[in-house]
Amino acid sequence: MPVRDQIGRIDTTAVRHDAGRIRVALLGLGKVGTAVSRLAARSDIMGPIIDISGALVRDASQRPGACCPLTSDATTLFDSGPDVVVEVLGGTEPARQLVLAALERGIPVVTANKTLVAAHGEELLAAAERGDTALRYEAAVIAGVPFLGTLARRPLAGSIRRIEAVLNGTTNFVLSELEAGAADLCTALADAERRGFAEPDPSKDVSGTDAAEKLALLVRHLGTLAVATSDIPTTGIDGLTRLDLLRAIDFGGTLKPVAFADWSDGSLTAFVGPAFVPLTHPLSNLRGADNGIRVHGDHSPPVFFAGAGAGPDATAATILDDVVESVVPSDRPSAWRDRVGRRCCPAPLGRAPWFVRLQSIDRLPALDVADLFASYGVWMRRTSETDRRTVPSTTWLLTHPCPSASVQAALTALSSATGCRASCWPSLERDSD
Ligand code: HSE
Repeated sequence: MPVRDQIGRIDTTAVRHDAGRIRVALLGLGKVGTAVSRLAARSDIMGPIIDISGALVRDASQRPGACCPLTSDATTLFDSGPDVVVEVLGGTEPARQLVLAALERGIPVVTANKTLVAAHGEELLAAAERGDTALRYEAAVIAGVPFLGTLARRPLAGSIRRIEAVLNGTTNFVLSELEAGAADLCTALADAERRGFAEPDPSKDVSGTDAAEKLALLVRHLGTLAVATSDIPTTGIDGLTRLDLLRAIDFGGTLKPVAFADWSDGSLTAFVGPAFVPLTHPLSNLRGADNGIRVHGDHSPPVFFAGAGAGPDATAATILDDVVESVVPSDRPSAWRDRVGRRCCPAPLGRAPWFVRLQSIDRLPALDVADLFASYGVWMRRTSETDRRTVPSTTWLLTHPCPSASVQAALTALSSATGCRASCWPSLERDSD
């Protein structure tokens, strides 16, 4: 097994000389599993030598010429004595049963499976505790950026109270492409699928479910609050058009697929969905499949992590980083075991500035709209020209901060007075931005 030198670097010489290869058993050999075995073969990159000692597949006879010995029997695979099990099956079953079985045997497990960790994190972390081993899921969120372990190991993580993030590579790619001139959402989504960013069922990306699973995982990891993915208020990107994105630019920002959580006052507020992000906010610069997270603590300035959010190669690199971390002795107690969360149900976002789209508002002059909004305590800050090239004609505006209930009431009143269609999305603008 690898050892560390005095400043914590892995001593790869020692690894190579003590026959300390890390033997990895893969559960699944799809796109990510294949990328893991390809990258593991390049030991010069990874430092310690990593052997893929076997892989569990549904039907071994269907995969001639595979990169490693295959089996469809998990017991045989676990009995072969791997140092680490890497789960890359995706979904909840049979992944859950297999990960539990490995942890109960005391084998460390590395997974990129956010669906599994979001749904069964408490159970799996308890099994890791019983097996006196670790469950690591670094690649499950912002696949290419190993920030969870960094935060879990450091006291700073204990003081995080707010997360503002872009957690889905596919939807950030789609919105970036739309902004840059892609014909429509479907064309950009097909491109994201071709590049290997999207889920096997891409509606999980578009609807925000994938990001909500990642947010549930983060809220447990950073806030030790156990949240059901389905309890997080979630909106998809499918209601957005290219014109929405262009007007957001006119207002000094952009629309991003945001995941947000705040537990600074002891109760949790959270949402996933499109939001207006001012250009002064670091999330506004994320392009393509890049993801990012800004964490706010009680006593420290915000910290921002960003990088590749999706793709088999980025995911494989972080998985192997987790593999090495799993077997390298650390002088700190396991940073991953005490992440079991207290059950909690998030409230939707309350007060915020709002980015509003009004369609077919011709029957009411702008001043009357402002008056109507003001009567609900909603004050307009920016208004676009009405775009009459669109059918129906469309106006966009930004409001000052106000409660969600007020903006919803104002939009309902406006819709019944004029028959217009109204949509709104929150804005991440804060005084500090
Ligand atoms: N479909 C996911 C995304 C893959 O686009 O972010 C990485 O979790």
